[in-house]
Amino acid sequence: MPKVFYTQPDGTVVAVAASPGDSVMATAVRNGVSGVVGQCGGSLSCATCHVYVDEAHRDELGTPGEDEDEMLDCTASDREDSSRLSCQLIIGEGDVHVTVPPEQL
Ligand code: FES
Repeated sequence: MPKVFYTQPDGTVVAVAASPGDSVMATAVRNGVSGVVGQCGGSLSCATCHVYVDEAHRDELGTPGEDEDEMLDCTASDREDSSRLSCQLIIGEGDVHVTVPPEQL
């Protein structure tokens, strides 16, 4: 079973067992991971699921689609090259490492 590792802004890491096909956002919300809100439930209309994806996973998770790219301009914390909306990050068979931004709302 894959795990998602969420690094918090203070450097602590929360590891959560995940199901392939589930999103990084839904996995965080279901497990009470701090800093991932997911206010719109994954319909690409809130940007409160912003995370920074670890460089090692960027290729396997692809690039943002047009709608995600537009919403990434609305994040509370600065957008970086590694920024993604975690509701669009679908977990495969392997582990995923992301960092939660300092501000989400
Ligand atoms: S949960 Fe709202 S954009 Fe991802």
